[in-house]
Amino acid sequence: PAPVAVLISGRGSNMQALAAEQGAAYRIVLVASDRPDAAGLAWAREQGLATFALSPKGIGKAAYEEALDAALREAGAEWIALAGYMRLLSDKFVARWRGRIINIHPSLLPKYKGLDTHARAIAAGDAAGGCSVHVVTEELDGGEVLGRAEVAIRPDDTPERLAARVLVEEHRLYPAVLKAFVRA
Ligand code: GAR
Repeated sequence: PAPVAVLISGRGSNMQALAAEQGAAYRIVLVASDRPDAAGLAWAREQGLATFALSPKGIGKAAYEEALDAALREAGAEWIALAGYMRLLSDKFVARWRGRIINIHPSLLPKYKGLDTHARAIAAGDAAGGCSVHVVTEELDGGEVLGRAEVAIRPDDTPERLAARVLVEEHRLYPAVLKAFVRA
């Protein structure tokens, strides 16, 4: 199986979905977080997954990314799946892992890069929101889209309600796309 590291910052529900689908296609060799208090990190530890936690606060982004890169290599990771990782990776880091990092984003890319995606989709009067898995490049949420899932927007929708329905689709989409990506 392809050795994959999952990067998180918080809850980690997408990481859990990826963990549940481990098998012949990929294995999670490390769960790394830029927030040592991330809830998902505690879950990963309980599951016996290898974890790495380090905050850039105090040491700076360059030193943080050097340490992260070293931990990823030590764990034997060859692929990186960002799962609610809320920090921008530097151009240098992206170049080192070129074509080997993917991300899940809660919009139908290329629409609504960045934050507050569901509120923006509702405010625009869109018929559907959704999620996308894409290759990470230097451009925020701008790399090749590998897969998308659509969710209809209801007349009485709120960003929270839409997010909850999209999240269900994220959990289906991400493992499927990761499997195809590491096999290709
Ligand atoms: C997910 O909805 C993911 O698509 C989004 O954050 C949430 C993380 O949830 N990611 C981004 O907004 C990336 N910019 P999770 O921690 O439960 O997987």
